[in-house]
Amino acid sequence: MGCRVPVSGPGAPADGRHRRLGRLGYLPRAAARRMAAMADHPPRRIGIMTGGGDCPGLNAVIRAVVKPAVRAGMEVIGIEDGYLGLIEDRMHPLGYMDVSNILTRGGTILGSSNKANPAAYAVPDGSGGWVKKDVRRQVLEHAERAGLEAIVVIGGDGTMSGAAQLIELGLNFVGVPKTIDNDLWSTDVTFGHDTAVTTAAEALDKVHDTASSHHRVMVVELMGRYAGWLALHAGTASGADVILIPEIPFDIDKVAETCVSRSRFGRKFTIIAAGEGAVPRGGERFVDHVDEKSPDPIRLGGVARWVAQEVERRTGLEARSMVLGHIQRGGTPTPYDRLLATRFGHHAFELLCARQFNRLVVMRRGELGSVPIVEVADKVRQVPLDDPVLRAARAVGTSFGD
Ligand code: F6P
Repeated sequence: MGCRVPVSGPGAPADGRHRRLGRLGYLPRAAARRMAAMADHPPRRIGIMTGGGDCPGLNAVIRAVVKPAVRAGMEVIGIEDGYLGLIEDRMHPLGYMDVSNILTRGGTILGSSNKANPAAYAVPDGSGGWVKKDVRRQVLEHAERAGLEAIVVIGGDGTMSGAAQLIELGLNFVGVPKTIDNDLWSTDVTFGHDTAVTTAAEALDKVHDTASSHHRVMVVELMGRYAGWLALHAGTASGADVILIPEIPFDIDKVAETCVSRSRFGRKFTIIAAGEGAVPRGGERFVDHVDEKSPDPIRLGGVARWVAQEVERRTGLEARSMVLGHIQRGGTPTPYDRLLATRFGHHAFELLCARQFNRLVVMRRGELGSVPIVEVADKVRQVPLDDPVLRAARAVGTSFGD
């Protein structure tokens, strides 16, 4: 089990509840003494939450944290809908059976939100718009009242930025990296990505059939925000002829040329995998809409449609576009993601036991480790231009439109 919570003695407060009250310096002397006594022991009561966009494997992490925690005697509180649950004081106890049989389920049993950063929470401004308010004190109060000594926060960069801003006020976190985009700074991999790659590659394979039957150019838009990992990995896995990623601005004439030259050589169809953040050389990113309530308000979209129109106009070849969309975020996690999520969750539990707070679990060169959460906030990990998959894709003739 690796860790046991004290039920009596200095680590167990008389009222049976640990209270987390911000920095030791602000505490009444008795509470500070009690916390100092607890400092040697694993936390007795923890929270767990999932923040940002959902992805396959969230439930596997929840299970990997909650089961050993309950077995070690910790109380676990599930925070509903990410930071919203902390802001609105919506939490409930989680027992062993609540996390039984959820390993293979997509989504999150706790709910999530990508619109609720406590340091800049959107509230109505009274005239039909929104204004951002700092509600971190409210969050602190709710966490304190629930007796949470630490919170396991499962999320991407936005969620970790939110955690970093609460750490400043004295809340304790242990972070677990998730996102289909694989763009979290300081970890080589995030869970959810492999499942999304599998879904996207399957879709590209299917589109291949139609493209070759109808001799068409098919442009498929994939998620990934400002990083091209998803388009690169799914595109390469399914043998896309052209892959467009944010890291490599593309020349639309070069993309059109590739389609024409393929057709001249008897390959009468072309598959283009376009990351939603891909940018034409000298042009702008394609924005679908702006979500004012979100801390990260830009929602990308539209590149595939534009590329298809421009290729058809330039070449006369029939072109179609499609947007794969949120299907990439759903479904049962692949076995790879289940294993990764379970290992991440277990490492988070070990960090909790050792009271190694405010750290994010990471995987580097196949090894689990952790880094301070504040180090990863507001950073994006993009595809380096010498990435081995990128180089291998180029070597087999894939065009990146450059
Ligand atoms: O970060 C995950 C992600 O799916 C991105 O790939 C995408 O750009 C974004 O979230 C979509 O956000 P929403 O669910 O708010 O439309």
